[in-house]
Amino acid sequence: MRYGHFDDKQREFVITRPDTPLPWLNMLGQDEFYGLCTQTAGGYSFWKDARLRRITRYRYNNNPMDNDGRFLYVRHGKSVWNPGWKPSRTKLDGFECRHGLGYTNIVGRKDGIEVQQRVFIPPNENVEIWKVTVRNRTKQRQKLSLFSYVEFCFYEALNDMTNYQRTYSIGEVEIEGNAIYHKTEYRERRNHYTLFGCTRKIDGFDTSRDAFVGVHHGLHDPKAVLAGKCTNSHAYGWNPVGAHQVNLNLAPGAEETFAYVLAYVDQGDLPKFDAPFVINKTKGREVLKRYSDIAEIDRAFAAVKGRWDELLSNFTTPDAPNEHLRRMVNVWNQVQCMATFNLSRSTSGYETGIGRGMGYRDSNQDILGFVHLLPERARQRILDIASTQLSDGTCFHQYQPLTKKGNADIGGGFNDDPLWLILSTCAYIRETGDASILNEVCGYADKPGSKDTLLHHIETSIAYTLNNRGPHGLPLIGHADWNDCLNLNCFSKEPNESFQVTGDIAGSKAESVMIAGLFLYATRDLAALYGHLGRAEDKQRVEGYYGDMLKTVETQAWDGAWYTRAFDAQSRPVGSKACKEGKVFIESQAWCVLGGAGQDNGRAKKALQAVEKHLYHPKYGCALQWPPYSEYHLELGEVSSYPPGYKENAGVFSHNNTWIHIGWAMFGDGERALDYYLSICPSAKPDHDIYRSEPYVYAQMTASQFSPTPGEAKNSWLTGTAAWSFVVGSQYILGIQPDFNGLRIDPCVPKDWKGFTVQRKYRGVTYTIIVKNPKKKSKGIKTLVVDGKKVDGNVVPLPSDGRSSVTVEATLGA
Ligand code: GLC
Ligand code: GLC
Repeated sequence: MRYGHFDDKQREFVITRPDTPLPWLNMLGQDEFYGLCTQTAGGYSFWKDARLRRITRYRYNNNPMDNDGRFLYVRHGKSVWNPGWKPSRTKLDGFECRHGLGYTNIVGRKDGIEVQQRVFIPPNENVEIWKVTVRNRTKQRQKLSLFSYVEFCFYEALNDMTNYQRTYSIGEVEIEGNAIYHKTEYRERRNHYTLFGCTRKIDGFDTSRDAFVGVHHGLHDPKAVLAGKCTNSHAYGWNPVGAHQVNLNLAPGAEETFAYVLAYVDQGDLPKFDAPFVINKTKGREVLKRYSDIAEIDRAFAAVKGRWDELLSNFTTPDAPNEHLRRMVNVWNQVQCMATFNLSRSTSGYETGIGRGMGYRDSNQDILGFVHLLPERARQRILDIASTQLSDGTCFHQYQPLTKKGNADIGGGFNDDPLWLILSTCAYIRETGDASILNEVCGYADKPGSKDTLLHHIETSIAYTLNNRGPHGLPLIGHADWNDCLNLNCFSKEPNESFQVTGDIAGSKAESVMIAGLFLYATRDLAALYGHLGRAEDKQRVEGYYGDMLKTVETQAWDGAWYTRAFDAQSRPVGSKACKEGKVFIESQAWCVLGGAGQDNGRAKKALQAVEKHLYHPKYGCALQWPPYSEYHLELGEVSSYPPGYKENAGVFSHNNTWIHIGWAMFGDGERALDYYLSICPSAKPDHDIYRSEPYVYAQMTASQFSPTPGEAKNSWLTGTAAWSFVVGSQYILGIQPDFNGLRIDPCVPKDWKGFTVQRKYRGVTYTIIVKNPKKKSKGIKTLVVDGKKVDGNVVPLPSDGRSSVTVEATLGA
């Protein structure tokens, strides 16, 4: 690998040259304060909501890419350089960036001076800390200046980047000692400010961008750094920035350590001002004082690491035989699940924080890979999401994390949305055993104050699908189903319209087989839940819905060699041999199989084989459909608008691949389950000049074999692939499946795996699960021994005697 490597022991990805094929990002923070940080210290920070509380500015789609961030400039002799290489791009003698769990550590070296910048966000604090060490590695005394730099954002990020007639005249700051206070709009509607402080004595500062950078200069050659001197500017309007100058005089071999602190301070009930225009800085001073103590900084850093140690100890396999699966399941996949849970699809290198907030379907799915980490947070999220459902069953497709209110621009009418709530709720109850969530009151978005429970929402969701079916008896699709771009009601020839929400869905007949499959899955889940709760009648009722829908799928949606994808507004099939393009789609194969269709008649296997034959490529994964659309199909919407091989037009959309992985595991094909898993696994990508995206997290999309750029990934980090791949790796390949009454052990592995161990914390008990495979099988538990006693079946019963650890020996071979 030309750009770096995994350090599995430290749980870090080590980047050894700064010019990676794309910016390689890390996500910092998991409570209320977040930071995006690339290997060159690019990125930005925000509090809770990247649209409404953006703290530092970032210019997306810039060239050079990723050119704003948390920068340190070194002025040493005549040279100006950054330890992270950018923005100056002065050649370094040494560079290393370690992306770890909750922190990024960058070290740059030039002419015997080494600067280390460790960026992290302590648990439950609204602070980002850069611990900085400057070392003189030469045999002479060295004088140099270090300049820090951030550019403040005016909090509301969309306004910040569009409304310059106003924003050029609103900027306000204060300076006190080593601290710069960004207080734009604080006098009026805001009770919060940003603090950018240095814990060491400073030798100058700037707060005006024009003074520090210069109007005709760029971040690569800021005027003040070139001059070797800050100007002590006070921003009044224009663009406030934070820059400190620190002059160092280091003896041979000496080093100095101090920190920069970027804090979001909520003033709470304190008086806002000490005097007109003078902020009451009590809280800001406390923050700065606290972190002036390096020991406190190190304690805060240890807390970040300790928290991840604790989280990851909930699921770990020390010895699963495949190193890529091991490292993803143990570390990076779980890290990504944390990010998708927290940020949904709002904020990444590709999601600007101002476009999409939290997604109804997305966040429900994200819970599947997160619930074992922090079940209480998953619980709250499920209730928050449910509250954005309307009483007729439809849902706001997106909502803002700060307000938790549905986004009216997008509205609802994505007819798969309601059903995902059942999957997240059942996953939560299987993990925790806490069925009380079903009785929690979480009203409907259109009936504020309503006293309906989560279970009411679940039944409303089922009823919505049942009551909104088309001519074939299949669920109506609305604006789209999981595939946002399958817009069978749009018919837009007008470039200024949205594909997804323009079409009128009232009275439309377009149907989705994918939703039918999802309905099968959801009703089977719900029936099992009712069974567990001892509600036999409800169980039977829901099984009735299942049976009817199954019959509909089998009679209406089998195309001969695979499941049809949909029926358009004219009731013509989509994803059928009768179509000229887009004959086979992945989602209907996946969901019909996952929902239990095609079991007795051989169709499930055929559906998976059709995926293999028409969509699968061992190096890139499965394309979404085949053949790609070469023409724009008015009746299909956005799906045919992308160039062939990209995104929903036959790109490898990683998220849906994971469902096929589960399909193969259900069939006991351990070789295919693992091969397919590896085909989209970032850690397993051999050539990063082709793949380009981060090797440690999944990307939403890889260009497929049907494009001219096969194997190139984009949209990393925020994708449903994270949660579902964790489900595949932990529950279907390694086979540790939380169930209502205990852990079910049902691995599906390549025949040549000799065995493996999993440590799993589950409902307060630590399970050590040893899986043995002496007979070279893929699936099927022959014997299950729990703390020395043989148990029938493959579910480990919950200990009734308060034991806190349990040892399980499971032998494959049935
Ligand atoms: C994006 C969306 C997700 C959708 C998928 C397929 O990932 O966030 O909701 O299901 O695209 O269109
Ligand atoms: C979904 C699709 C994407 C589309 C986006 C925004 O995420 O994946 O192609 O552009 O929705 O509408």
